[in-house]
Amino acid sequence: MDSSNPIGLFDSGVGGLTVMSEVVKALPNEHILYLGDTAHLPYGNKSPSAIIRFAIENANFLMRQKIKLLIISCHTACAHAIDILQTLLPIPVLGVRDPGFCDLLQATRTKRVAVLATASTIASGTFQTLLQAEKLHVYPIACPLFVPFVEEGLQNHAAAKLIAEYYLSSLKGTGIDVALLACTHYPLLSTVIQEVLGTEVRLIEPAHSTAQMAAQLLKERNLLNPSTSSPIYRFFASDDPEKFRRLAKIFFPFPIEKVELV
Ligand code: DGL
Repeated sequence: MDSSNPIGLFDSGVGGLTVMSEVVKALPNEHILYLGDTAHLPYGNKSPSAIIRFAIENANFLMRQKIKLLIISCHTACAHAIDILQTLLPIPVLGVRDPGFCDLLQATRTKRVAVLATASTIASGTFQTLLQAEKLHVYPIACPLFVPFVEEGLQNHAAAKLIAEYYLSSLKGTGIDVALLACTHYPLLSTVIQEVLGTEVRLIEPAHSTAQMAAQLLKERNLLNPSTSSPIYRFFASDDPEKFRRLAKIFFPFPIEKVELV
């Protein structure tokens, strides 16, 4: 394996760019390829078999570009396909699920936690299984309207607060002290979610820990890029590159010059 090869990330669309921006900060010498599978967006309401198929196709595309590490930046894809991709691929595969799970475990004192995610992530039962095995009481909440709200730029609109109250009111009085934002888009709603849940509930966003875990893994395996010349970032979308570029601005603090259609 060549340590100068790029890291590959994929998501159903632009949301996983929040993970990429943390990877850029944690690993400033690394070349990065990002694939947004916008042709199949959203994953959050799709069946497990469709999501697994898309995830394998995305991983195969990135493998053909000779990546040295795959980061599944989409929570829904990760919930359904991380174990499969870890078995199938000859390179290390990381996802946003395990860093989020570890952070949640460390943060809770009451051992009562909420997981907010897409309908498909919640239906996969992945967080429920992991957290119940640690004797935590889990409140899983599917919030399907959050993604379109963010993509419409309405994250600070009064309607976003109403939707958050609608989804999260059942958490009042449960004694949760931590809520995991297990969807790429939910950190953009964290102000509203925090207002609804109250300041005593800590919100966990796994993007930062995922990047730290990636850095650790590359270091341990001697795969850090030794070159300090400017890294190359390439962006791919399976549909409408212009829309990708437009929406990317919500999630990614750096300019994106070009998005390649695949
Ligand atoms: N990227 C997805 C996730 O993190 C949210 C958008 C979608 O439903 O595709 O679960």
